[in-house]
This record gives sequence, structure tokens and C-alpha cells, in this order.
Amino acid sequence: RASPIKVLVTGAAGQIAYSLIFMIASGQMFGPYQPIQLHLLDIPKMADALKGVSMEIQDGAYPLVHSVLCSTDVQSAFTGVHVALLVGAFPRGPGMQRKDLLKVNVSIFKEQGEALGKYASRDVKVLVVGNPANTNALVALTKASELPPQNFSALTRLDQNRAASMVSDKVGVNVDNVSNVIIWGNHSLTQVPDVTHAIINNYPAAGLTSPALSTINDDKWVSESFMPLVQNRGAAVIAARKLSSAASAANAIVGHMRDWLMGTKQGEIVSMAVISDGSYNVPKGLIFSFPVTCRNGEWSIVQGLKISQSIQQKIDITTKELQEEKETAFSFL
Ligand code: NAI
Repeated sequence: RASPIKVLVTGAAGQIAYSLIFMIASGQMFGPYQPIQLHLLDIPKMADALKGVSMEIQDGAYPLVHSVLCSTDVQSAFTGVHVALLVGAFPRGPGMQRKDLLKVNVSIFKEQGEALGKYASRDVKVLVVGNPANTNALVALTKASELPPQNFSALTRLDQNRAASMVSDKVGVNVDNVSNVIIWGNHSLTQVPDVTHAIINNYPAAGLTSPALSTINDDKWVSESFMPLVQNRGAAVIAARKLSSAASAANAIVGHMRDWLMGTKQGEIVSMAVISDGSYNVPKGLIFSFPVTCRNGEWSIVQGLKISQSIQQKIDITTKELQEEKETAFSFL
């Protein structure tokens, strides 16, 4: 559209936002011709830091940024937004139980879901990043009953990018020659990184016979190295940086939204956590990371992929975890 779109970023004074907002401002998410009105939300204690971010946006003199609204008030931040990037969440502190973490975040995403339903544009596209992302997205969607569930998603693109990058490294090709690596399930340790449908140098990995490329058909490497490395990559970054992944998360958010809005390439599959319609025997109504393609601003789950028994077993485990998270979250609603 030629008129500006309103883009909400929550957790706007946090780490991911400090990369993300500037990528959006420079046109990486919506392209070089789409003007933007930024709505930035954080909690009152972060108001000064948020002001600093807005000063830096101003100092960046970005031609696409038509206005910046900084707010600690949910209603004003959510009003009229076309894209909602829900990054802010309550972090897990030392000694905090998973259940207690879920409880605080349920209250945040309940409020923000209600705000989406009441104040956002009816075609708003929502991406939940704050953890536990899948379940937070489910809570928001449930509380925004005025909006279609197809408007909601959670981020597993960072896991997909990590997986593609590891495959490219293993095979020895540039990462842009690797696609269709799939992440199934929860954005957590039970996620299922799956190379069986990967495309490398435009060929299906499963059909490759050349020594270099068949390396990823090495079951031992897949189950003992690749999968645990992808699953634990977030923790490895925290151990090294003493802070969680931020720039790479921002890059993943940009990729997720760009594909959703502008469409995936012909033949390309990406992973997005979206509402299950029962595909691949995943119970309806869970927010589950599926292989999808996007066209005309809509995602659709890729049908008919052959799932090996070992991948199916892992899909069942991540499904069970999501069901349990859902039950716990809904007990707080
Ligand atoms: P951060 O702690 O640097 O920033 C979070 C910001 O959110 C803080 O400024 C905080 O004040 C704000 N916030 C907290 N409650 C809020 C509320 N109710 N409304 C608005 N803002 C609120 O954290 P960082 O590194 O930016 O990460 C943000 C979230 O993203 C975390 O939950 C993290 O676990 C998650 N994450 C998810 C990934 C994924 O792939 N799905 C990847 C990396 C991080």
C-alpha cells in the first residue's frame, strides 16, 4: 500500500528490538517503498530507555519512517496496527519454575490478545516472539476472538535459519543453496528439525548420491549432531554471549514477516508456528510449527509430505509438550 502501515513492536526497549526496529526502519521487512508508522510499547520502568530508542530512530533519518509513537499504554500502542510483532515477555529468572513463568506470560498475552481484538486493524498480522512463543500466541489468539486465527503466528524461523546454516556448513555449499529444512512443533528443546525434504543446489537432498551432498543423509549425523545442535543453539549463544540471541532473532523476524506478506518463492517451504487444522495428525487448535508456503498475504500448510517413523515419534513428543503447555496456560485464563 502507498499509505503508511502501522507496525507495533512490543518489548521495544529490549535487545531484539534494538536490532529489529532499525531493520524495519531501513525497509528490510516491507520493502523500500512502504512508509511506516512505528508503535513502540514497553513497560513503564523502561520508558526512558524507550525514549532513547526513539531518539536514535530520529537520528537515523530514515525516509520510510513517517512517525514514531512510544507508549507504555496497551490501548494506544495497539490501536489501528496492521502488523504486531509481540517481542516483549517476562524473562525466566533464576530459580523460577516453568509454570510460574507461564503464568506471568499468560497474563501479558491475555491482555495483548484482548487489545488486538478491540483496537487493531481487522487484517492485522501477528507474530509472537516472546517465550513460550507458541503458547503465548495461542493465548493471544484465544482472547482475540474477533479476529481470524489465521492472523496469528509464532516464530520458529530462527530455528529454521540455524538448521539451514548447519546443513550448508556440513555440505559445503552457500546457505542460499539450502532450502526446505523444516522445523516441526514447539519453539523449545522438543522442536523437530527435519532435513528429509531439504533442497540443496536445487536438488532434493534425499535423492542425492554425490559424496559431498549425501553427507546429510547420514542418519548418525542427523540424530546425534544436527538435531541436538539446532535444539540447543539458543542455549549455546546464551552461554557465549551471556545474553540471548538478538540480532539473529531480529533477522528471523524480518524473514518470517517478509515471506508472509510478500510470498514464498516458487517451490520454497518455510516454517511458521500457526494454528493446526489437524494436518499431520497434530490436534486442531495448537499453535504448531509447520512447513508452509505463503501467497497473497496468507500462509498454507504444505500437505502430503512423507514423514519417517523417527520424525513422527519426535513430532508426537513436541505435540504432547504443547498440549501440556496449553492446559497449564488455559488453567490461568
Ligand atoms: P529483553 O529482556 O532484552 O527485552 C524484552 C523487553 O520486553 C524488555 O524491555 C521488557 O521490559 C519488555 N516487556 C516485558 N513485559 C512487557 C509487556 N507486558 N509489554 C511490553 N513490553 C514488555 O529480551 P529479548 O532478548 O529482546 O527477547 C525478547 C523475548 O524473545 C524473550 O521472551 C525471548 O525468550 C524471546 N526470544 C524468542 C525467540 C524465538 O525464536 N521465538 C528467539 C530469541 C528470543
